[in-house]
Amino acid sequence: KKTENQILVIFGASGDLTARKLIPALFNLYVARQLPKNFVVLGASRSDLTDEEFRNRVVYESPYLKEKIEDLKENYIQGFADKIFYEDLGGTYDTAYDGLRKRVEGLKKDFQTSGNIIYYLSTPPTLYETIAQRLADAGMNTQNNGWKRLIVEKPFGYSLDTARKLNQGLHQFFTEPQIYRIDHYLGKETVQNLLVTRFSNSIFEPLWNRNYIHHVEITNAESVGVEKRGGYYDKSGALRDMFQNHLLQIVSLVVMEPPIGDQPEEIRNEKVKALKSLRIMKDEKTLWDNTIRAQYVASEVNGKKVKGYREEEGVDPNSTTETYAAIKFFVDNWRWEGVPFYVRTAKRMPTKVTEVVIHFKTPHHQIFKDSGVNSKDNKLIIRIQPDEGILMKFGVKVPGQGFKVERANLDFYYSSLAETYVMEAYERLLLDAMQGDATLYARADEVEAAWEFVDPILDYWKNGKDVRMYGYSAGVWGPENADELIDDLGTWRNPGA
Ligand code: BG6
Repeated sequence: KKTENQILVIFGASGDLTARKLIPALFNLYVARQLPKNFVVLGASRSDLTDEEFRNRVVYESPYLKEKIEDLKENYIQGFADKIFYEDLGGTYDTAYDGLRKRVEGLKKDFQTSGNIIYYLSTPPTLYETIAQRLADAGMNTQNNGWKRLIVEKPFGYSLDTARKLNQGLHQFFTEPQIYRIDHYLGKETVQNLLVTRFSNSIFEPLWNRNYIHHVEITNAESVGVEKRGGYYDKSGALRDMFQNHLLQIVSLVVMEPPIGDQPEEIRNEKVKALKSLRIMKDEKTLWDNTIRAQYVASEVNGKKVKGYREEEGVDPNSTTETYAAIKFFVDNWRWEGVPFYVRTAKRMPTKVTEVVIHFKTPHHQIFKDSGVNSKDNKLIIRIQPDEGILMKFGVKVPGQGFKVERANLDFYYSSLAETYVMEAYERLLLDAMQGDATLYARADEVEAAWEFVDPILDYWKNGKDVRMYGYSAGVWGPENADELIDDLGTWRNPGA
């Protein structure tokens, strides 16, 4: 695909994301010669920085580029840094757009970038609409002279209502095809591979339904706590931070019907349909029975003291924000009727791992009664991260008399494709937006459908009667009570445990 000449304007450029993810992604694209010939980045934010200072910060002295640039020649790195500029928005995101417009026009002229512009919103979300409006006021959203695109970082809304308002707000100034809502999980190869596994093989899809699948389990675990983001996290929590976006995106890819083709709208239409078929939990009894929340408490991991969530900087000492969430739900459609989904996400787990487990049903008639292994152990495990790959578990005969069965693995690792360079999520997503491909970005109705499912849970956790909040020590797989959610089926699969 062709990447046209363009300018990338990053709002909130002095923030962490720019240095940690965006600039390294652009740098990788530069090294891979994927950036268009005439291309510049203009960082904009409220910090008072010169171009030089900004380049030092995000390139020359950036801890996130250190390893990447160590073996490279000075002038090569400079070639990249020279594409980066900075505009001080003068203490506010509400004014100064005249200056910004002039700067963009100047760069466009100097570097022949044409009128194509991406605006990347990486500011606090309360500013998204203001920025879109100010860009429109300054005439910077018009497409009569090159296209204009808007990439919007997460979180997209705080609830169904706020997400809707944000969509309506942005739509006043940018059309839906101009808007790219980022969810970096969609940039992960293994997440995209869910589509390929399902729809480019003939051996999985015939089994991918209620007739053969017993239940689906999705685990997302992180070993870190809230780190330095206590202030943000305490207003968010696991459900908003991970579940509404990343995990429901994964769910939509597991649940969706085959799209008619690989065009963005064809795929996104099916994802929306999938999200709309999640059974919304309405009454307190259902919510009580199917949702578990918890917080990590002060504990010791490998002899090291770890703070409890409520002791973290920026967190309210009486906080009721969850760092662990486990949700059981059903999908009301032809394919999935009666198949339970178990999805959990948490911080301060024993390890960092994300995986999808498809648990298959036991064969209708058990011939090998004393086999020792239940064929319910037929599982397809899609390892999203780390050790990206796919594992299939099935029974084989133990050599010798009788029919003893043992579990065996068919295991594929992405790393075995040694020659293939795997792009980082942000790299892939940025390149897609630069090329106008929105397949891996969330559409307005998709985000709203996800909130529609999450809203009642959030509301119940906030306002419900006697809602339980469990505690768990750092380095364990969450509260024991979470086992109750799944115990009629067995236990959670704790990867690596
Ligand atoms: C972010 C969340 O969206 O995803 C973080 O805000 C979380 O809290 C991160 O740590 C996890 O991403 P990954 O790619 O490391 O699994």
